[in-house]
Amino acid sequence: SKDGYDHFMLKEIYEQPDVIKKSLDNKFPHGKLNLMDQSFSKEELLSIETIYFTACGTAYHAAEVGMRAMEKLLHKKCQSEIASELKYYQPFIDEKTLLIVVSQSGETGDTLAAMREAKEKGAKILAVTNVVGSSIAREADKVIYCNAGPEISVASTKAYTTQLISLYALAIDFAQKLNCISDQDVEKYIKELYTLPSKVQELLDHREKYKDLAEKIKGAKSIFYLGRGIDYLSAKEGALKLKEISYINAVAFQSGELKHGSIALLEDGLPVVCIISQENLVDKSISNVKEVKARGAYALAIAQKNFKNVQEVSDDTIFIPETLDIFTPVLSVLPQQLLAYETSLALGNDVDKPRNLAKSVTVE
Ligand code: M6R
Repeated sequence: SKDGYDHFMLKEIYEQPDVIKKSLDNKFPHGKLNLMDQSFSKEELLSIETIYFTACGTAYHAAEVGMRAMEKLLHKKCQSEIASELKYYQPFIDEKTLLIVVSQSGETGDTLAAMREAKEKGAKILAVTNVVGSSIAREADKVIYCNAGPEISVASTKAYTTQLISLYALAIDFAQKLNCISDQDVEKYIKELYTLPSKVQELLDHREKYKDLAEKIKGAKSIFYLGRGIDYLSAKEGALKLKEISYINAVAFQSGELKHGSIALLEDGLPVVCIISQENLVDKSISNVKEVKARGAYALAIAQKNFKNVQEVSDDTIFIPETLDIFTPVLSVLPQQLLAYETSLALGNDVDKPRNLAKSVTVE
């Protein structure tokens, strides 16, 4: 049931503080990381040369953030590829490869196909999925469950944030087993992860403004999403969410890349959502806001709350609580989910069942 919410999507957005907490408790029983047989042993990890991430859609956006977290903690280059591409191109996958597969349903045809192909080549497979006993869960060597509970709305929300939690736990697990991080850092990460449910709640407590924002953007024929580094990954997820349920053409760009072509598309009133959560990139990102404003665009910033001067250059600003850089997507995605929801609603669309889409895409 929708528990009194108008749509499953909204209900699932509001479940996030709770399911993030559940997901954390599953991976950090008594506040200590313990993935038990959900992960590989130190010996197994030592035999792995390459770590690859694959998935589709929203799950892929989570996978990419997971990859960045893994790289940061292991000081090691990792790779990622969309599942429907990876299925047909994997000359680099062998028995020294670990393929991390992310899928809410565990039944996505493209993801399953890429995983089977890699398994055939001898790769080890670790699945991050939400559905116990799903095909992907059954065929993987190791499975980490997201603990999001059933996700009904086609637009994925709580699956994304709990996929992130699962992938962060995995990165910490690998880094700890391979002696890449200190015990203090492990403590620091765990402590910060446990602050996320209340920070998410804080964002959800201020829902009013999204209706007005939706009114401002609902007539646009296209909307840009900009971000640098990990913010770009979050922007991609925000753009997909909006596109999927509002049917407005939403496109994400790496902020710095805009000037290499796409800036030609900027015109009066075109909405540009700018994600600004990374301390080291804030000045550059502010220049980007100025750049789009100078072309008459409408700039909506989603910024970390200490970056006060973002507000001065943007038309509207939503502040998100502070957290460690790699965890910011858990927070920056929330305003983007609510914006997509309200825009879809304002346009009179079927929020939970967008046209041409199915919850689980089992065809390749
Ligand atoms: O079940 P999966 O996580 O494997 O699904 C992957 C995508 O089809 C899915 O995330 C899709 O992009 C969502 N509808 C986006 O909201």
